[in-house]
Amino acid sequence: TPLTSHIFFIFGASGDLAKKKIYPTLWWLYRDGFLPERIRFIGYARSQITIATIFEHAAKYMKVENHERETFQKFVELNSYCVGHYDVEKDFQHLNDEANRLSKQESAHRLFYLALPPNVYESVTELISKHCRPKPPGWIRLIVEKPFGKDLQSSNKLSEHLSKCYVEEEIYRIDHYLGKEMVQNIIVLRFANHILSRVWNRDSIAAVIIIFKEDIGTQGRGGYFDQFGIIRDVIQNHLMQILSIVAMEKPRSTKGEDIRDEKVKLLRCISPVKPEDVVIGQYIGDKDSGDVEHQQGYLDDKTVPDNSTTPTYAQLILNINNERWAGVPFILRAGKALNEKKAEIRIQFRDAPGAMFDEDIRENDPNGRLARDELVMRVQPNEAIYLKLNTKRPGEMGFIIEETELDLTYGDRYQGVKLPDAYERLILDVFMGSKINFVRSDELQEAWRIVDPILELVDQKKLPLIPYKFGVFGIPEAFEAAAKHGYIFRGTYLWKDERSG
Ligand code: BG6
Repeated sequence: TPLTSHIFFIFGASGDLAKKKIYPTLWWLYRDGFLPERIRFIGYARSQITIATIFEHAAKYMKVENHERETFQKFVELNSYCVGHYDVEKDFQHLNDEANRLSKQESAHRLFYLALPPNVYESVTELISKHCRPKPPGWIRLIVEKPFGKDLQSSNKLSEHLSKCYVEEEIYRIDHYLGKEMVQNIIVLRFANHILSRVWNRDSIAAVIIIFKEDIGTQGRGGYFDQFGIIRDVIQNHLMQILSIVAMEKPRSTKGEDIRDEKVKLLRCISPVKPEDVVIGQYIGDKDSGDVEHQQGYLDDKTVPDNSTTPTYAQLILNINNERWAGVPFILRAGKALNEKKAEIRIQFRDAPGAMFDEDIRENDPNGRLARDELVMRVQPNEAIYLKLNTKRPGEMGFIIEETELDLTYGDRYQGVKLPDAYERLILDVFMGSKINFVRSDELQEAWRIVDPILELVDQKKLPLIPYKFGVFGIPEAFEAAAKHGYIFRGTYLWKDERSG
């Protein structure tokens, strides 16, 4: 048999992330022919189980079609499982022996995916480096998942620890939002279109809002979530990453380091969030709802302590103190247990100057004003880019103005094109050694710095926690704060998904 060229290790192989995301992703990549031919996969965890059990649990997420059975069988045969502790040297030596035995050589490239709770991170990374490195010319790449610490200090401590065992090149910090189609498209949209790059600044833009909404509660993940809360879970990472790409200066090239340099430069221009620019909330059950899940509040989750004050909703308003953005509010808003699942970026342009249409508008509505143009990038679901514009109401004799849109909905424009899952792209990036879509340690440090003082206040229960009912549109206090900073939401326009449903 030929020598194995790559070994992919899944740490935490018996866990939730491995089952729902990592194993299915590896299967899809294998199925579609993206992985090296002579690869092997080794799962590692503490549970006394077999690889067969892991596949049984993951089956539901892998979606194997009948005609793929044969290929799937081949994939299964490339997998094995090794049981061991996360802090015992000889277990890692054993894993290394196993890897050498299976690959029949000692220098196959090794990728380690760490789907692990944070408390075992340090020992695992140290022991992998000590006992499981391949012999040259084989390389090692470590894929780490958030949480990267809990605050600036613990994150720095983890980074320091990692940098003792690995060079930065070997570390791939995953933020799966960077693997989403629309997030990857921001760079192209911004920098490949002169028409947009000319207006992408404080002269034309009134406000930017980045929104993350979910229509589910903690769904049994309360144990993890309660220690982190929505700011650490979603804002510090996913939304801050989007913000840095939306606002950075044009990178010199599409090389990973050029892009990451610009992202860091941008983050450096942001001062820590001020308490008055923060709104936080926690969902409560909606007893009148017909939906049983909606009747359950956050505190009804059995894995959440009864007196928890962890926020499940938060809005942070940031200012970027540079020439391009000074004075433009960047609003980051995220919430669980709301009315819908959606992520989007809204660039709201300034009012069209001059009073030309005022009389026409006021004829119909004494308080009326011209709507602002808005560029919306809908990250999910139903990827779309649309530009909200004012138009003359078709067929009218006079100047009756109404809002409409230029619409690039991916499902219509790119029919039949399959958009790969975020994890598929990112894991493939690691094989290719591409760092564009991974978080560098200085980026991470800056992102923590910005939210750190607020997290402290939240943890010390010093900010008012606003209750909201499961299933609502949002928190009124957050909308008021956004409006106060200049983001105008009229509520008169409906995007087609909202119109039809
Ligand atoms: C994860 C968060 O990073 O992102 C979860 O920990 C959240 O709380 C998830 O549900 C959302 O990801 P997606 O891809 O479904 O938007």
